[in-house]
Amino acid sequence: MGRGDRGAVRVRGAQPGDLAAVIEIDAGTTGLRKPDYWGEILQRYGSGRRKQRFFLVAEGSSGVEGFAIGEVRDWEFGMPPCGWVFAIGVRPEARVAGVGTRLLESMCAGFRRLGVTKVRTILARDNALILSFFRSQGMMAAPFIALEKDLQA
Ligand SMILES: CC(C)(COP(=O)(O)OP(=O)(O)OC[C@H]1O[C@@H](n2cnc3c(N)ncnc32)[C@H](O)[C@@H]1OP(=O)(O)O)[C@@H](O)C(=O)NCCC(=O)NCCS
Repeated sequence: MGRGDRGAVRVRGAQPGDLAAVIEIDAGTTGLRKPDYWGEILQRYGSGRRKQRFFLVAEGSSGVEGFAIGEVRDWEFGMPPCGWVFAIGVRPEARVAGVGTRLLESMCAGFRRLGVTKVRTILARDNALILSFFRSQGMMAAPFIALEKDLQA
């Protein structure tokens, strides 16, 4: 797939038959195969589960090219209802052809239909690729900070 094929995918809700491809795409990015985790995500976020939850796949001529998970959360962290993107991934061979953009646009359209006016995500500070992607989609630094503590210390 190249730039000329931009948008040549269909974005739809994930189905059980998509899981194997999603697991492989995720494993390629994270180095971890997590079939149990993805089975649970399908149960909780798959098509027709809950209207606030989204588990989307982008399907091209050679199958599933990418996925995205997100949800509208109400009043978490004291924020008015907003859309959260929890994860997005595109098969390495299908990247930089607009698939990630299509997935995020579809999710944002779903968020808008539910009446929210903001989309948010969290990413690793040193992940330049995902930062470039979200910046290209118009997402900017938010007026929040993330905190953590090592519980094993
Ligand atoms: C981030 C990711 C989803 C982008 O998917 P994609 O289908 O390649 O994205 P698009 O083709 O829609 O790219 C949109 C824009 O993002 C930016 N972008 C995408 N890949 C980029 C790269 N390698 N370098 C710099 N900018 C990049 C560009 O601005 C691009 O627009 P352009 O093609 O007009 O220049 C994909 O690279 C990916 O799966 N990466 C690994 C996933 C990951 O690290 N996830 C972290 C946990 S959530």
